[in-house]
Amino acid sequence: MNDSPVRVGLLGCGTVGSSLISLLQRQNSLISARAGLNVVVAAVAVRDPDRPRPVGFADAILTTDAASIVVDPTIDVVVEVMGGIEPARALVLAALAAGKPVITANKALLAAHGAELFAAADAAGVDLLFEAAVAGGIPFIRPLRESLRGEPIGRVMGIMNGTTNYILTRMTEAGAQYSDALAEAQALGYAEADPTADVEGLDAAAKIAIVASIAFGVDVTDSMVDAEGISSITADDIAFATRNGFVIKLLAVAERFDTDHGDELIAAVHPVLVPATHPLSSVRDSFNAVFVEGEAVGELMFYGRGAGGDPTASAVLGDLIDASVNLRAGAHGSIGSLGTPRIRPSDQTSSAHYLSLVAVDRPGVLATIASVLGDNGVSIASMAQSAADSELGGSLADDEARLDFITHRVGRRELTATLAALRSLEAVRRVGSVIRVLSEEESES
Ligand code: NAP
Ligand code: HSE
Repeated sequence: MNDSPVRVGLLGCGTVGSSLISLLQRQNSLISARAGLNVVVAAVAVRDPDRPRPVGFADAILTTDAASIVVDPTIDVVVEVMGGIEPARALVLAALAAGKPVITANKALLAAHGAELFAAADAAGVDLLFEAAVAGGIPFIRPLRESLRGEPIGRVMGIMNGTTNYILTRMTEAGAQYSDALAEAQALGYAEADPTADVEGLDAAAKIAIVASIAFGVDVTDSMVDAEGISSITADDIAFATRNGFVIKLLAVAERFDTDHGDELIAAVHPVLVPATHPLSSVRDSFNAVFVEGEAVGELMFYGRGAGGDPTASAVLGDLIDASVNLRAGAHGSIGSLGTPRIRPSDQTSSAHYLSLVAVDRPGVLATIASVLGDNGVSIASMAQSAADSELGGSLADDEARLDFITHRVGRRELTATLAALRSLEAVRRVGSVIRVLSEEESES
């Protein structure tokens, strides 16, 4: 064992940073035994030095001057767990330029500026590791980067946001109100500082952008991801899903298509009705799960805690040990240079859909609606009608009926035209939820 300690500069001491300090304190002898390292936190940057911290460390190492840490010659490795784009981006670039390996959990930063940061790490000849940025504590980035390096990846699909999975689980299983479930997720440390990023699908969009970049070797940024969140999911949608053998999940999907003009990609986040028989339907609470479909390996599934201080800090700690070992060996990893992606426009995508309408309850209305669907090439897989006095009819007037359709696969363009035509019908009072369905055929592909 090399007796000199690895001195860590920690940028941020919130949920993840304080858990990392605690893990390092608890696992010191294990790290020493397994990796021959003595890892010490030598400096900690925060915004508010007077805020109480759940972990103990010497006052002298606390500062509000993060910029001084990243150029401090006595700091060996920098861990960035402050979040946000700036000043995090400038600090990471400065640390890399100073020859320090960087570990970050910051998916927002990597999804917007990954290519720039990876190139900076390569130029400096040091590691930039980010296991915690995707799916929290699940070891997924390293298998994707290393174990699957020789594997053409066709699709990655998963539950990548713990906060929304927690909210949907509580709404489904306990009938919880959306706002109460969100407050619980925040109290448990799952949510981002601004939970809008979680509930509007932006956090998962950042993660799938990072995953798509690594899986397909191109520079996918979060601005290229078609993102939709869960804030419009209603208790009625959940009740319909439950009665019909589905569970609503927020899925992040990255898919590659071979075309005559080369590869095209889809990167998207949206709520999906997942069949209750599919393994993703049983991923509950803040757990995440990621499916990978490779050419030779077939289907793989990764499962574990996607959010929270300790699970996320566990992923950061693994990276910190790897980067420290590499630093001592004068080695570093690289994801290589990233090409330019060709993103398939969202109006050229297709999926089965769930479609909910409120219409006037009188003879001939259902036939009119069915013919609008048929005229637009939308094939109905199943249909259910609920009256005002039924379980799903709570918000209906006496002369209204609720119509819930599940369609076969329909193109986005045809669906948009169908919805416009339905809205223009005198007998349709309102078009409610329109949610993708993971069909059995997609589940098996
Ligand atoms: P957090 O609890 O809000 O902590 C952020 C920390 O950074 C705080 O200590 C804050 O200081 C400090 N900070 C923020 N801006 C700063 C600045 N300009 N200068 C110095 N310090 C600054 O956030 P978190 O939940 O630990 O998340 C950190 C990162 O990990 C984010 O990128 C997040 O996306 C990612 N992540 C989080 C989770 C999770 O479950 N929480 C999981 C995976 C990845 P004060 O304490 O003084 O305010
Ligand atoms: N806010 C994120 C989530 C943390 O809920 O999944 C993990 O990235």
